Amino acid sequence: MLIKKRPDLAEHQVTDETLYHARRDFLARCGHLTCLSLFGGLLGCGDEASSATQTPQWLSDQLAQAQPPQPAFTTDETRTPFEDVTRYNNFYEFGSDKGDPARHSDRFKPHPWSVVVEGACQKPGRYALEDLVKPHRLEERIYRLRCVEAWSMVVPWVGLPLASLLRRFEPDSRARFVRFETLFDPQQMPGQAATFAAIDYPYVEGLRIDEAMHPLAFIAVGLYGKPLPAQNGAPLRLVVPWKYGFKSIKSIVRIEFVETQPLTTWERSAPSEYGFYANVNPAVDHPRWSQKSERRLPGSLFSPRVIPTRPFNGYEEVASLYSGMDLRRLF
Ligand code: MTE
Repeated sequence: MLIKKRPDLAEHQVTDETLYHARRDFLARCGHLTCLSLFGGLLGCGDEASSATQTPQWLSDQLAQAQPPQPAFTTDETRTPFEDVTRYNNFYEFGSDKGDPARHSDRFKPHPWSVVVEGACQKPGRYALEDLVKPHRLEERIYRLRCVEAWSMVVPWVGLPLASLLRRFEPDSRARFVRFETLFDPQQMPGQAATFAAIDYPYVEGLRIDEAMHPLAFIAVGLYGKPLPAQNGAPLRLVVPWKYGFKSIKSIVRIEFVETQPLTTWERSAPSEYGFYANVNPAVDHPRWSQKSERRLPGSLFSPRVIPTRPFNGYEEVASLYSGMDLRRLF
């Protein structure tokens, strides 16, 4: 997302430039990985160990019993194939090339896992994943995912409403925002160990409390009926379908109820390019590219499926959350 794009460049030229930078990044990281492998013996490439094999039985059982999507939470648009959803990722903790998260996450351990809940609520504490997920009947939701980079997918997530989870911690009246944090563990996440990391870690995101409580906001623990792969944010991630994908923070380890708007990773990194609200909005271009349309995946470089981008990514029912706000200024 930090790659400079000149407005006079065609899409395929931009892709080339992205790949160019990503490759340089990747080579730099590989040098670093080699050192860690030699001295620490912890990291390596090429074996078939997979985070999916560590899935606990209770989670497999719950995924198997997930409810089909309710009409309000699905779409008849063609689902993006599993291979594309799990091979074309943004998860900078594993590298900035779209293939890096799948390539470099095979040693990532999503189990056991716990999440610290703190701040303005009655039930703070450290909660095991099992305690967070088990009380909920999982459900499928087929959502569009629109990245700020102007590509999009349709993903069948499995999980639980964010509001149902948050209510269990009994947030009080001081809780005006919710702040989320991703795991920081450079031994498992090689992108965090890179000498020149693309962004500051841990990755931080946030929502206003009413956004977080909206029925569309979702916590995913699976996709395509399977446990969430590491590259998609195992074992639990946020999915906020009306916002650009960078709001949907992965591999969450901390949830904090706060009084003031949290400073989020991309806003901190480039405030003129990435705002806190980040609602999908075709009327507000990114300073370096248009947001009027998107490339629906899969598609090839030579026959991209370009479709118009819709306000709030087509989830207009959230518009009332922003009545009276200038969404050009609060982008
Ligand atoms: N969460 C963390 N921790 N690190 C990241 O780099 N990338 C974001 C978001 N969540 C990111 C993250 C971006 S830019 C997008 S578009 C989505 O994850 C992509 O989700 P996907 O790879 O499952 O499609």
